[in-house]
Amino acid sequence: MNVRYLDLSSIDAKDVDTLTRNIAADFGASTAPAVLAAAAGLAQRLPQSLVDELRDFRLHEPSAALVVRGLRVDDEEIGPTPLDWRTPPAPEHAAALTAHEVYLVLVASLLGDIFGWSTLQNGKLLHNVVPMPTEVQEQSGHGTVKLEWHTEDGFHPNRCDYLLLLGVRNHDAVPTTIASIDDVVISPRHREVLAQKRFLIRPDNEHLNRARALVGPGQVHTIQRMQDSPEPSAVLFGHPEAPYLRIDPAFMTARPGDPEAAEALRVLVSRLDAALSAVPLGAGDLLVVDNYKAVHGRSEFTARFDGTDRWLKKVVVTRDLRRSRCYRAAAHERILL
Ligand SMILES: [Fe+2]
Repeated sequence: MNVRYLDLSSIDAKDVDTLTRNIAADFGASTAPAVLAAAAGLAQRLPQSLVDELRDFRLHEPSAALVVRGLRVDDEEIGPTPLDWRTPPAPEHAAALTAHEVYLVLVASLLGDIFGWSTLQNGKLLHNVVPMPTEVQEQSGHGTVKLEWHTEDGFHPNRCDYLLLLGVRNHDAVPTTIASIDDVVISPRHREVLAQKRFLIRPDNEHLNRARALVGPGQVHTIQRMQDSPEPSAVLFGHPEAPYLRIDPAFMTARPGDPEAAEALRVLVSRLDAALSAVPLGAGDLLVVDNYKAVHGRSEFTARFDGTDRWLKKVVVTRDLRRSRCYRAAAHERILL
């Protein structure tokens, strides 16, 4: 698949390192409201090549994924990979990790607004993607089984426009998998069927389990309602000749009694399977996925749980926070409840 790559020069990498460490020291955090408020302005101090590349990626959509390489990550300095996303870093590792998170936040701010979910990682805006001993079998960022490819949060109308993954450790080169709708050929008939609202996507277990825990007796969380009676959605949308997509086969079916839709979905899934590429994210590699054009997943791997396992930092970005206003407590809040 057509992945664009941008390599920071050694001078640019040094400048990014200085900038992000200074911001981390000034604010003492990566996603505090003050950092988010300042991020779009501070991001203009990133190397011009990076600012220009992201503007182009956002406006012209030249590819479904972009990898920016070159952030300096010191394997010793970041400390061991935690065994749980909740575990805060030891004080001696916090400064470097906060600086790397600031990099992610600044880049994200060039694409739109970071947001989060009350049903994922306790509403945190910046996620740690690490294998967890209790969740190895889960279809989530914390498992080690093959993570089936999907549109991020595809069940939800306010899913992200962009998903950003920053590798801080990946000694085993565990691949992130990715495929673009631009790379598959589908017949006009199948395309027409896939563009109709004849498909049901249900929430994944991580959202659903947390949604059930968040509500009081007798209450039903919005995400539970999306499980019980999902709104039919189209797989393809946007321009008929160059469509966007919304798909999550592991949690998705055609509407009951619609074999034509089921067949079209089966064909598209097999074509995307065939188009899947492996993109291992090493330390300092930042992958930007256009969530309207690409699906992503992860290969199966073996975790050691000894502090050296794969560790990514993740944020999701919307181009228009207003679209999700009905799910957020206030205009400035970024968490979908
Ligand atoms: Fe995902």
